Amino acid sequence: MSDFPRTTPASPAEETAPYGGGPTATPTSAGPAPIKRIRTQHLREMKQRGERFSMLTSYDQLTAQIFDEAGIEVLLVGDSASNNVLGNATSLPITVDELIPLTRAVSSSVRRALVVGDLPFGSYQASPEQGYLTAARFMKEGGAHCVKLEGGVEMAPQIELMTRGGIPVMAHIGFTPQSEHALGGYRVQGRGDTAERILRDAHAVQEAGAFAVVMEMVPGDVAAKVTAELDIPTIGIGAGNQCDGQVLVWQDAFGLRSGRLPRFVKQYADLRSVLLDGARAYDAEVKSGAFPAEEHTF
Ligand code: KIV
Repeated sequence: MSDFPRTTPASPAEETAPYGGGPTATPTSAGPAPIKRIRTQHLREMKQRGERFSMLTSYDQLTAQIFDEAGIEVLLVGDSASNNVLGNATSLPITVDELIPLTRAVSSSVRRALVVGDLPFGSYQASPEQGYLTAARFMKEGGAHCVKLEGGVEMAPQIELMTRGGIPVMAHIGFTPQSEHALGGYRVQGRGDTAERILRDAHAVQEAGAFAVVMEMVPGDVAAKVTAELDIPTIGIGAGNQCDGQVLVWQDAFGLRSGRLPRFVKQYADLRSVLLDGARAYDAEVKSGAFPAEEHTF
């Protein structure tokens, strides 16, 4: 077993300090101010104050800790793990049993961020009851704080049942990757006449009880109108800059992925080059005998 020191997740006592007050939120004379956990209602309060928030995907302990420390309010354990972690070509093949351990890794590692478990394709569309039972597994086994599902008007019964049963729901409308084949491929939704459909979907999920809605690949003016009309926060991905929050897949945002990126992605780092250089240097030193050196030897 390695004796390299491990960084441990925050203890439950550190994690549960309520946002904005409560017994554990009172700073002691010695310790630092406690971490205030982000709850669903805080995103709505941020919208009311005109403050924006950020969301990233995360599928593991270490990125969850880093993004949490960076101040990202919401971490999504997306079904995009399918094509960013598990080696699949799309998000369709990933299963509930594959996503729950990743959700557990993220929820156990954050102190502040709201953790969203993403319901995978086929795990909620059949009926509200199927959806509720799947969502409950994400909460109980994955430790998710809420769940996300794709769909608008047609998903209202699922959202209603989950919300009534104590599960906060984030909806996802516009381009919904799980329906890629039904939608005829990756394409912007809500152009021209179909803008009305986006508005109908947005209002339907809000009325059903969703606490927030992701809009993917929707024209900026349509997303701005939805954001202005809804009381719940909107989160854009390819939906312009008038949404209340933004979300990106982290491997896209920080340059771990190679190849062509969607137009809506901005790359904030080039991790692929950093890792490639590091791996090449390691390989060269192993082969030359330069590593391990004296200082790495017992
Ligand atoms: O799974 C995912 O990464 C998502 C985002 C694109 C919002 O659903």
